[in-house]
Amino acid sequence: MKTAANNRVKTPPAPSSAQPQSVGQIMTPWLWLVLVVVLFAGALFGYDQGVISGALRGIKSTFTLSPLVIEVVTSWVTLGALFGSLAGGELADQFGRKRTVLIAGAMFTLGALVQAFAPDTVILVAGRLVVGAGVGVAAVAAPLYAAELAPTAVRGRFVSCYQLAITIGIFLAYLVDGWLSPSGAWRVMLGASAVPGLLLFGVALAAPRSPRWLMMMARRPEAAAELRKIRPGADVEPRLDAIAKALRQEGDRASWGEVFQQEWHRPLMIGIGLAVFQQITGINAIIYYADQIFSSAGFTTQASQTTVTTWAIGAVNVLATLIAIAFIDRLGRRKLLLAGLIGMGISLIVVGVAFQFIVNNAAGAAAAAGPSAAGVVTLFALVGFIICFAFSMGPVVWTVINEVFPGHIRGRAVAVATAVNWGSAFLVSQFFLSVIGAIGDSLTFWLFALFCGVAWVWIYFRVPETKGLPLEQIQQLWMEPGK
Ligand code: BGC
Repeated sequence: MKTAANNRVKTPPAPSSAQPQSVGQIMTPWLWLVLVVVLFAGALFGYDQGVISGALRGIKSTFTLSPLVIEVVTSWVTLGALFGSLAGGELADQFGRKRTVLIAGAMFTLGALVQAFAPDTVILVAGRLVVGAGVGVAAVAAPLYAAELAPTAVRGRFVSCYQLAITIGIFLAYLVDGWLSPSGAWRVMLGASAVPGLLLFGVALAAPRSPRWLMMMARRPEAAAELRKIRPGADVEPRLDAIAKALRQEGDRASWGEVFQQEWHRPLMIGIGLAVFQQITGINAIIYYADQIFSSAGFTTQASQTTVTTWAIGAVNVLATLIAIAFIDRLGRRKLLLAGLIGMGISLIVVGVAFQFIVNNAAGAAAAAGPSAAGVVTLFALVGFIICFAFSMGPVVWTVINEVFPGHIRGRAVAVATAVNWGSAFLVSQFFLSVIGAIGDSLTFWLFALFCGVAWVWIYFRVPETKGLPLEQIQQLWMEPGK
């Protein structure tokens, strides 16, 4: 009989050549530099995405904004990111991963300055678009750069550091919102990211180039030089031979058409599926609308909402991402994803149940009573959700997206998955409040919980374990029949 266990994807054993090494042994100064690049890129992504909610109040008092312009100012970063990520894949393949990160750094800086000095809303929106495009380009180039430069044994941790940086950026944005939004200093809030933008540019300038990309460009001597920086004293030739062999099997750099060929359907579906599930399980509804959810749950003052959002959502998100960094290369991607989704689903069900009581009691509740028991349960359940997302669907999704594709389609395929991720984020954040208006809070959270269940089943059957496999070996998975 064919059982579910037989059906699910098999995980090939890790190569025997993988020697256990401590992080201290693996991490050379050049690799630390790569890590700093990745951290800056992620932090800018998180900050630029998160800061707008606090800046809006000040912007509204400077310019007269119609509701439509408010929406545009808020959401066009996401739109810019969608197009930026598609262009990012092209740039990463044409000009290399490192130069693409440089371009992103320049865009962050330029966009931040344009916003800070905007004399009117048209220029402000133009600045938002430039920053958004920078976010999109960085969202493709930085994890790709991390995945290609990281030694196999720490690849998951490297890419998860990118997620850690996103969460730090969101947390900083919440903090800055708390400090500066009462004074309405929106130009400082938006302009502040010019500094890390410049720093990103400076650090990326000094960082090594991706040996894999250089090999793709048939520049083996340069690839050898970069690899020697990352692995001083090691014989780099066997590694370069392995990359060359993988590249030969793959053929030339693919056209857009090839990215969508039958041969690569499996990894493409995995990349796109994970990108969509990361968003439709509700993370950004909570990140963007935490204040409003807490307000419905009985946290009536602006100060109490800002405090819970900053610490219960922002800080917890950062801390729980450290769990992923500790375990992703030990437990593997699948275990974290499957465990995290169970926790996310249960938390969302509890939030939905709590909202039943909140809604039922709302009419009779005294306005000044503060959060009810159901409000406190909502708070704890949302903290539970954030913890579970932060060790699973956040970092692991970006890690897997950046390792499943063969080199010749990697840039473009990662770009497609990232653009789909931004498109889904845009839709969820755009329609979350309308969906609540149409079907109510409880059903909305239960809908997210349902998507967690669907994601769990799909991952169980479709996503293989990639822990400990060199990138070249992961692509073999898709060439074997029946997998
Ligand atoms: C997601 C973002 C989200 C962030 C929250 C990232 O992995 O792509 O959309 O806002 O995690 O920590």
